[in-house]
Amino acid sequence: MSSQSQSAIILGTGSYAPENVVTNDDLAKIVDTSDEWIRTRSGIGQRHFAAKDEATSDMACIAAQRAIEAAGIERNEIDLIIVATMTPDMPFPSTACLVQSKLELPNVTTFDMQAACSGFVYALSVANSMLLSGNFSKALVIGAEKMSGILDFEDRTTCVLFGDGAGAAILARDTTANVGILGAIGGADGSSPSLLQQPGGGSAMPASEASIAARQHFLKMNGKEIFKSAVRVMGQASSDILEQVGYTAEDLDLVIPHQANMRIIESLAKRLKIPMEKFHNNLDRFGNTSAASVPIALDEAFRAGRIKSGDLILLVAFGAGLTWASTLIKWQ
Ligand code: UT7
Repeated sequence: MSSQSQSAIILGTGSYAPENVVTNDDLAKIVDTSDEWIRTRSGIGQRHFAAKDEATSDMACIAAQRAIEAAGIERNEIDLIIVATMTPDMPFPSTACLVQSKLELPNVTTFDMQAACSGFVYALSVANSMLLSGNFSKALVIGAEKMSGILDFEDRTTCVLFGDGAGAAILARDTTANVGILGAIGGADGSSPSLLQQPGGGSAMPASEASIAARQHFLKMNGKEIFKSAVRVMGQASSDILEQVGYTAEDLDLVIPHQANMRIIESLAKRLKIPMEKFHNNLDRFGNTSAASVPIALDEAFRAGRIKSGDLILLVAFGAGLTWASTLIKWQ
């Protein structure tokens, strides 16, 4: 096992899901689908959709507020804010700046992280490195998404899979040996961006009447190909981080995987040869909330008493890009 004298520990977590719960049966009234198809193919039973006037930053603020309270810190102790999102309030300024202002947080280093569904796990790794640099002491890291704003409710192959929400964590530098973030891996293969993308609205296809008429501002996905890649990279990112830090899958107390499809999670469990009981899943209640999925599940697991001091926890995610990331945490 590799040894480290300093690391970032998670002082507290928080999460938020919008009030409006949308069931599979609700969606079956809009597109040609069924509760049975959605449950058996994905494991999703319902999802939360934000209100029309509820933006990603609004959800992020509530999750952040709860994380600050759980961490027991003053907001002016925060000197780094990262928001992982692919559904920002607007292209710029960053959602992180909007959160900073809405919560009256200090004027500190503040930026968005765009690594799609892997964003929160990527952001944890970046925050960890920045804290270890000695230039920062407490980071607010958020994953927040309003996926309902980019879903095409005429496309049954995608609109049934995603949901809205936010999760957050407060990280702090700690000098206790071998606790906190023990290691992190981030990877990407950008060779097939069209497998999962929102084609319109950027510099390649600025918004126009034609792009809107062609529904180019909605999420497009080749589910089958993403599924195959997800199974491969989730397994690899998990094995690689365990090997890097010097643990085996048997040592894991809890796995918090990106909540995209229960069949992907089951195949990860099989590959790691660990029982499903060691996974914390909430896909049935939230759907795929992209960058918010891992921090919402982490917060739920912690508040449900599933995380104890000394536990070894694996966070692992994949998403558009293709991107993937894993983090191994020894809870303090
Ligand atoms: O965060 C990363 C984001 N993305 C993912 O992780 C997605 C990864 N992929 C998946 O989760 C799965 O591929 C899906 C759940 C998207 C689809 O499951 P699948 O087992 O790969 O189904 P499929 O695409 O092969 O479709 C099977 C059938 C098709 O009909 P035919 O061609 O066999 O007649 C689809 O048209 O199911 C049909 N179908 C649906 N039927 C009812 C597709 N979507 C629906 C639907 N309701 N919502």
